[in-house]
Amino acid sequence: MEELNLMKQAVQAMMSGMPKALRDPHRPAWHLAPSVGLLNDPNGFIQHNGVYHLFYQWNPLGCDHRNKCWGHWQSTDLVHWQHQPVALVPGACYDSHGCYSGSAVVADGKIMLAYTGNVKYPDGSRTAYQCLAQENAHGGYDKLGPVLPLPPGYSGHVRDPKVWRHQDNWYMVLGARDLQDRGKVLLLRSAELRNWQLLGEIAGSQLNGIGDFGYMWECPDLFTLDGAEVLICCPQGLAAEAERYLNVYQAGYFTGRLDYRQATFDHQDFHELDAGFEFYAPQTTLTEDGRRLLVGWMGVPEQDEDCHPTLQYGWIHILTCPRELSLHNGRLCQRPARELQQLRGENRQWQGTADDAPCWPVDSAELLLAPNGAFNADFGGAMALNWDGTVLRLTRNNLRSGQPEHRYWRGELTQLQILFDRSSVEIFINHGEATMSSRYFPGPQPLLHLSGKAQLALEHWSLTPCMLE
Ligand code: FRU
Repeated sequence: MEELNLMKQAVQAMMSGMPKALRDPHRPAWHLAPSVGLLNDPNGFIQHNGVYHLFYQWNPLGCDHRNKCWGHWQSTDLVHWQHQPVALVPGACYDSHGCYSGSAVVADGKIMLAYTGNVKYPDGSRTAYQCLAQENAHGGYDKLGPVLPLPPGYSGHVRDPKVWRHQDNWYMVLGARDLQDRGKVLLLRSAELRNWQLLGEIAGSQLNGIGDFGYMWECPDLFTLDGAEVLICCPQGLAAEAERYLNVYQAGYFTGRLDYRQATFDHQDFHELDAGFEFYAPQTTLTEDGRRLLVGWMGVPEQDEDCHPTLQYGWIHILTCPRELSLHNGRLCQRPARELQQLRGENRQWQGTADDAPCWPVDSAELLLAPNGAFNADFGGAMALNWDGTVLRLTRNNLRSGQPEHRYWRGELTQLQILFDRSSVEIFINHGEATMSSRYFPGPQPLLHLSGKAQLALEHWSLTPCMLE
């Protein structure tokens, strides 16, 4: 009954809220955004029978983190997406306070969702159940109920199951906060998705020699890439440093070797996945043609969310574009999925000194830039990218204080690929060696202004709007 009430209210919220949301000049032209309300983590990303399914944490009733449902989009080309029936709505006794994040697998020819049922009690405490749901004949999902209660030794914060198949078993990683407030990743095994055995902690704060590393780790993902295992996770509670860990919460990865029998993960250092202002809770999937794709949330929990100007239009947050992953010298590289080239419209090229460059429209655009010296790029007066030969620095005014804030990357800059979409920029450095993903809120028809003495080779495309259907 709770579920039905929530859906009735969601229908009303959509009917009365959509005209306004669509009027927002900051609404993306081709990124995925919620029709109304709040979107956060991508969930259940999978390709099945040639069709991509992408679910997402969605509050249809408001722009706060309540009423978490799983919205559902599908696509055959990663560019054109269609709405599907809402997949999960909270309200059962085991998911009363949210159908939290999780993943999808195909079992017996059907998509199965593994998600966290979040339950809060009046005294402020909470518990979590890992739950399953199965695809039905109507494009919807039937809840199958919990398959795992809280394991002993952990707080009520155990969530975000990512499930995959390895040899003859299913495996799951979970994010957790233990009773000593240490963030952990748990590894579990099951023969049939319903009975799960906890194998142990494979990474975490005060584990594998990493010292204190946060009180909670969210949204783990584990996969093999180019011969190594990659563990993605989102540690909460890392202290900010001069040029890293500057967002409220981090998203990063370890590369290493997973021993499935011993349940141990021998890993290297933690690296942030993205050096921009907004990036969190990414999730990957393996495509039928063997690529590892990643989609992230272009937002960060509790990071000035209440100051986003889109709130006035009744919606908040977008997902990143889909990205192809590869491993080079132990470091994860991300490039825009090749399918996104379908969006490219008119092409223009230019070469010369940055100071002489024409202004380029960047409302919805892609830019390739090869510099050979210091330069500055201003994005519609609302964001700036500066390269001084050593540090690449991204600057904007903080949404709350109005004061300038910065993000950094250091290295040898050879190439930049930048995707602009109304209120977002995704910067790919040196063919994906690093990325900077950020929201920004320029005025209408923003222009790119270049300056500096550097010689630049530029290529520009306008990107064709692509509406969700
Ligand atoms: C990450 C997260 C997850 C949780 C979900 C709830 O952003 O906090 O850990 O499952 O969001 O929406």
